[in-house]
Amino acid sequence: MCGIVGAVAQNNVIPILIEGLKRLEYRGYDSCGIAVHLDRKLQRSRSTSRVADLEKQLATSGLTGFTGIAHTRWATHGAPVTHNAHPHFSRDRIALVHNGIIENHDDLRAELQALGYVFESQTDTEVIAHLVDHMYTGDLFETVQQAIKRLTGAYAIAVFSADEPHRVVAARQGSPLIVGLGDGQNFVASDAMAIAGTTDQIIYLEEGDVVDLQLQRVWIVDVNGRSVEREVKTVQAYSSAVELGPYQHYMQKEIFEQPRAIADTLEGVVNIMPELFGDKAFSVFQQIDSVLILACGTSYYAGLTAKYWLESVAKIPANVEIASEYRYRDSVPNPNTLVVTITQSGETADTLAAVKHARSLGMLHTLTICNAATSAMVRECALAYITRAGVEVGVASTKAFTTQLVGLFLLTLAIAQSKNRLSEEQEQAHLKALRHLPAALQSVLALEPHIVAWAEAFARKENALFLGRGMHYPIALEGALKLKEITYIHAEAYAAGELKHGPLALVTEEMPVVTIAPNDTLIEKLKSNMQEVRARGGQLYVFADADSHISPSEGVHVIRLPENYGLLSPILHVVPLQLLAYHTALARGTDVDKPRNLAKSVTVE
Ligand code: AGP
Repeated sequence: MCGIVGAVAQNNVIPILIEGLKRLEYRGYDSCGIAVHLDRKLQRSRSTSRVADLEKQLATSGLTGFTGIAHTRWATHGAPVTHNAHPHFSRDRIALVHNGIIENHDDLRAELQALGYVFESQTDTEVIAHLVDHMYTGDLFETVQQAIKRLTGAYAIAVFSADEPHRVVAARQGSPLIVGLGDGQNFVASDAMAIAGTTDQIIYLEEGDVVDLQLQRVWIVDVNGRSVEREVKTVQAYSSAVELGPYQHYMQKEIFEQPRAIADTLEGVVNIMPELFGDKAFSVFQQIDSVLILACGTSYYAGLTAKYWLESVAKIPANVEIASEYRYRDSVPNPNTLVVTITQSGETADTLAAVKHARSLGMLHTLTICNAATSAMVRECALAYITRAGVEVGVASTKAFTTQLVGLFLLTLAIAQSKNRLSEEQEQAHLKALRHLPAALQSVLALEPHIVAWAEAFARKENALFLGRGMHYPIALEGALKLKEITYIHAEAYAAGELKHGPLALVTEEMPVVTIAPNDTLIEKLKSNMQEVRARGGQLYVFADADSHISPSEGVHVIRLPENYGLLSPILHVVPLQLLAYHTALARGTDVDKPRNLAKSVTVE
């Protein structure tokens, strides 16, 4: 992961770099640092705390510079301590920041040590800094092009030399990197958001590109060293969208934004039509005989939910695979499969690699449900549906998940329609239910005070179980992920019928068991599973539809959702689980938006 930002300007670049780091903290926040070029010398400041701390450090030191690079780290090689924080220096001549993993770092380290280089860190990054220094010809652009030929793995790097003021060289292979074009100043960053407000003229570098950034020019060469022109895109500045407003945390804000996010995602959906996913979608949907969904984490759970919809509404076989597993296993490719990726960021390395793997197996029909219109995934897939959740800052995904579900439900309907499996009447009924979602969500959000009361009890626990059945089983999985992610409580989810096959052994009077109880065809079966828990003394915390006929009793706590929402019920039932995790985290005093060890965008394997 990690975030990179670099600048060549005619003014002090520190404020731009600090602002860029703040916006890139979603990529990792184990440590951060800045290096600038000052009087033909390298100067740096690093912190193992957050960017705000680095900013204070810089204000005290008064460090300034017209050329600089900065980094926010998600630790891979080496603990999150100052000497492992980027930028890394080599012989006080080369400064370098890196996102990704260099797989041959051990061999290169041994080689460079034999040449007399002394390593100060455990990182794979320092290897690149020394390698660039060792190969330095006096022309950094030329040197970096040669040096990266020695690297195996994924990387985005930005580097400058004490000997070449007003020049930053950057390169990418497997990790994202953009160039921002300004007036007499140019930038490089992991994400356009880092420099939003400074420039909206963005170049998305391609795999293997190396860029030479100077005050008045930007020169790019491709993987073969040939000079190339890359398209300059005008990217909407979205800095204002990440203001916290009246909320205490981004996660809280994002939970409460869900009615708006879903309304925005549905904006423009007048009728169900395959073209919502791209011009060629109709012919693709007609050809396909199965769906393969590839995703990670919360997005994977969105995929698991969609499997129920695809098979019951569109009557098309659907498989859902964890992207990092799919890419490395032997599978039987079917060229008539629609490969669907689900990703909030559009930059998740495992999901990107999985879709490339599927294509390499001859599965060419690709579609993404993605929240980032200009992301690598949207560029990678033939068809796309862009969810309109807006920027999601909290590491724990909330509004991205519910808007993904909306996108997946629309996909289900569009495939059903293309295959003549959807009557006009059914289409209208589904559209009506979709349009009612924002109002229905408001009623669920109004349950917050009841959930706050439960959170006090959960905050004292170290374990929790989540139960669901049918299409609410993935919602139980998502609820457990939310709880463990931000409260550090060990939580596991089971399809309720599985309980008796092992996990029931965990149930004691100490065990809270969260149960998702929509009034669907499985409700009576679920009630039996709840009895199995109560008989062992387990404490049930039940989110039940109003008409589920589940009443509170000893050891059975109930919060009622206002209405049964049929096929779209998972979109409503996940919201109280998000609120439960949020308020439990508040009660435990954990870092809600930046939970330990995690990052928002997972751009390494
Ligand atoms: C969930 O709260 C997490 N942030 C995580 O599981 C996330 O959903 C996963 O890393 C996939 O990210 P993506 O949607 O950006 O691909």
